[in-house]
Amino acid sequence: MAIDPSSSPMGVEGRAALVTGAGSGIGRAISRRLAALGARVLVTDINDEGGAETVQAIVSAGGVASFHHCDVSSYTDAQASIRAARDTFGSIDILVNNAGWDVIQPFLQNDPELWDKVIGINLKGPIHMSRAAMEAFVEQDTGGKIVNLSSDAGRVGSLGEAVYSACKGGVIALTKTLAREGARYKIQVNCVAPGITDTPLVAGLDQKVIDAIVKAIPMRRMADPDEPAELVVFLASDSNTYMTGQVISVSGGLTMS
Ligand SMILES: NC(=O)c1ccc[n+]([C@@H]2O[C@H](COP(=O)([O-])OP(=O)(O)OC[C@H]3O[C@@H](n4cnc5c(N)ncnc54)[C@H](O)[C@@H]3O)[C@@H](O)[C@H]2O)c1
Repeated sequence: MAIDPSSSPMGVEGRAALVTGAGSGIGRAISRRLAALGARVLVTDINDEGGAETVQAIVSAGGVASFHHCDVSSYTDAQASIRAARDTFGSIDILVNNAGWDVIQPFLQNDPELWDKVIGINLKGPIHMSRAAMEAFVEQDTGGKIVNLSSDAGRVGSLGEAVYSACKGGVIALTKTLAREGARYKIQVNCVAPGITDTPLVAGLDQKVIDAIVKAIPMRRMADPDEPAELVVFLASDSNTYMTGQVISVSGGLTMS
């Protein structure tokens, strides 16, 4: 079920947002929703073509966005992207740590090279970006919002995704700790845990695997990328005045823990 991106205002108008991994899937949906509600969005990704498409979609709908190449596994890139947001928009108010990557494979077949790549993107990425953004929020003395994309895999595990699940569990712990440390600076940090969502990340899965997962979901379907995006935008908005350190699943009831 797609949500009309121009429906209800949510308190992000005029805010400057940076979204990682915004050239595809959920990151693109978040960027479009933020921009449709009046935020200015720095679309970042390692996929320059996908990033340009996201910017084009936003600008052609009357929104404000630009692209900056950023590999979240590099702390240097993370710092440069936060600087780029401040240079482009004059400040940064919102960081969405969305970039993610995985290969589904039994743990006994993984090699250390894969572990390093998965950890670099899914765990070190949010660490790099959050540190750079929090320094900016404190220097600006404005406070700020961080929303992390975890996964239900980080709450209950997921077959063939041992290291990815470990990273996503780490993102939950990171969220809670940064929420505690950030509160004194008016920085709120929350986490959205999508269930299976219809994006290029799952398009590569065997249809039998998708069917088996969907059968276990009480609502019996995958999410549309706009559905987790809606919650991300609420948590990033001025409407979120008192939530921090929280983890919320958008998974059709697959997990209820
Ligand atoms: N789709 C799902 O079923 C699902 C479920 C749970 C959680 N998630 C999480 O949601 C987030 C978005 O996933 P998606 O389904 O939209 O995936 P996607 O593959 O459609 O998009 C991910 C984006 O991240 C980018 N990316 C990959 N490595 C990067 C790096 N090193 N630096 C910067 N960008 C990089 C990719 O280029 C891509 O544009 C991820 O964190 C993912 O783990 C997705």
